Amino acid sequence: MVFGKSLVIAGLTVAAVEASVLQQSARAPAACTYVIPEIPGGFSQRRFADFSGNTPSDSAATVLGTYNIGISQYGPLGTPVPHDFVASNVAFGNGYLGLKVNAYTSGSVHSAEIVTNDVFKYASVRTVLKSTAVQGIVEGNFFYLDVASGSQEIDFEILTTTLFNSNNPLVPPGIWATNHNNTGSEANTFDTIPFTFDPTADYHEYRIDWFGTTTNYYIDGTRVAQHTDPSTTPTVEGHWIWNAWSSGDPNWSMGPPTADGTYQIRSIDLYTGYTSTC
Ligand SMILES: *[C@@H]1O[C@H](CO)[C@@H](O)[C@H](O)[C@H]1NC(C)=O
Ligand SMILES: *[C@@H]1O[C@H](CO)[C@@H](O)[C@H](O)[C@H]1NC(C)=O
Repeated sequence: MVFGKSLVIAGLTVAAVEASVLQQSARAPAACTYVIPEIPGGFSQRRFADFSGNTPSDSAATVLGTYNIGISQYGPLGTPVPHDFVASNVAFGNGYLGLKVNAYTSGSVHSAEIVTNDVFKYASVRTVLKSTAVQGIVEGNFFYLDVASGSQEIDFEILTTTLFNSNNPLVPPGIWATNHNNTGSEANTFDTIPFTFDPTADYHEYRIDWFGTTTNYYIDGTRVAQHTDPSTTPTVEGHWIWNAWSSGDPNWSMGPPTADGTYQIRSIDLYTGYTSTC
């Protein structure tokens, strides 16, 4: 049986997505319930958070809670302009979950974040999202865990000022695919992938598959980056996070924004419970 029918969304390239997960027969071991052709082994659990039917009167906390995802409230943190994560900036629009960053006036840049309550090692995470056209915002979709000596991360990040062009050689244009080992030497492995479409015009599927020492990054079912360096691949269980924020850093987010901007998430399809052999 082929999964993904519910991902048939206007503007999304669905053919590759539909073929990207196969559900095994009921007799297969539970850990092999979901098999992805590019990944050895399989996954036992799927949560599919489809926000396409939600409206502004729905409670984001209640709906996200059914998928074991929470809403962050912390800060301020960051330089040169501090930002804080404000629960009320996570709210439904018509057919999407919105993560809003407010226009900056003074104090902190009010930002938005959601995070899985559970932790897991290895996953396939597909987020269908539309970027804000407001500049100066980072839109993240990433694995994160603090470890004693720092943190480990796998990140897809869209920087809304430098989608297509950049005046700063430290911040080449495109979407960032980065594996971080924020311990000791702060090593990372990254690619910046030029956009072949306008991410603010429509929804697209951004997918990360993480297994063993491999991280594969996909857009609309096409692999756009692959990282296999063991020293920058997380080794521990951690959370998945989606956020939108700005620190006014001219070498990263740019901004802070002068208008409200909302990162729109239409769905999250998350596979966990990995086993390397089926
Ligand atoms: C990260 O870097 C530290 C220090 O260089 C190293 O000991 C460790 O093995 C690296 N890899 C991971 C996944 O932590
Ligand atoms: C941005 O990078 C430049 C060049 O490395 C550096 O001189 C400057 O201090 C950086 N700015 C900030 C705010 O970190």
